[in-house]
Amino acid sequence: MKIRNMTIDDIPAVREIGNNSPELSVTEENSPFWSTERLVGWVKAHQDVMLVAEEGGEVVGFQITNIHLPSKVGYLSDLVVDESARGRGIGSQLVELTLEKMREMGVTYVYALTQVENIKIHNLLKKYNFDKCKKMVWFEAQL
Ligand SMILES: CC(C)(COP(=O)(O)OP(=O)(O)OC[C@H]1O[C@@H](n2cnc3c(N)ncnc32)[C@H](O)[C@@H]1OP(=O)(O)O)[C@@H](O)C(=O)NCCC(=O)NCCS
Repeated sequence: MKIRNMTIDDIPAVREIGNNSPELSVTEENSPFWSTERLVGWVKAHQDVMLVAEEGGEVVGFQITNIHLPSKVGYLSDLVVDESARGRGIGSQLVELTLEKMREMGVTYVYALTQVENIKIHNLLKKYNFDKCKKMVWFEAQL
């Protein structure tokens, strides 16, 4: 397994994995994951940490972030490992490398939003010293 930067060519595989994950939270084009247009712009900008985990030439997981350098705030937007590849440390390695890259970029505060009952991601985040804070409600709008 290797972890590398996401490219435009990875987007179909990333969307396939993202769209099969009911744990994600956005509603676009009737799917729970980001549109192709949005992901293309995101990858092309080279501003955020966007990683894929690859096994045998196939994308099996990814981590997407939003990084705001003026405030030094980073958001772990989406972390997903394909169901077939879970429980083998891939999610942990994606988060570890993401945090390392964020630190190198100068980020000093990192947060994540999760569904209340998603124990797996809660356990994973606790492993990396994230504290569980207040329960919030996700609101969304298209502009
Ligand atoms: C959460 C997710 C990314 C974990 O990926 P993974 O590759 O299976 O994770 P790892 O094997 O590295 O496990 C990391 C930690 O997660 C927790 N975890 C993983 N599977 C778990 C399970 N079945 N039950 C409870 N905790 C679990 C553990 O703390 C584990 O650490 P440990 O092995 O040292 O105990 C994966 O389950 C997933 O893609 N889920 C659907 C998408 C999702 O919920 N993303 C987060 C949205 S906010």
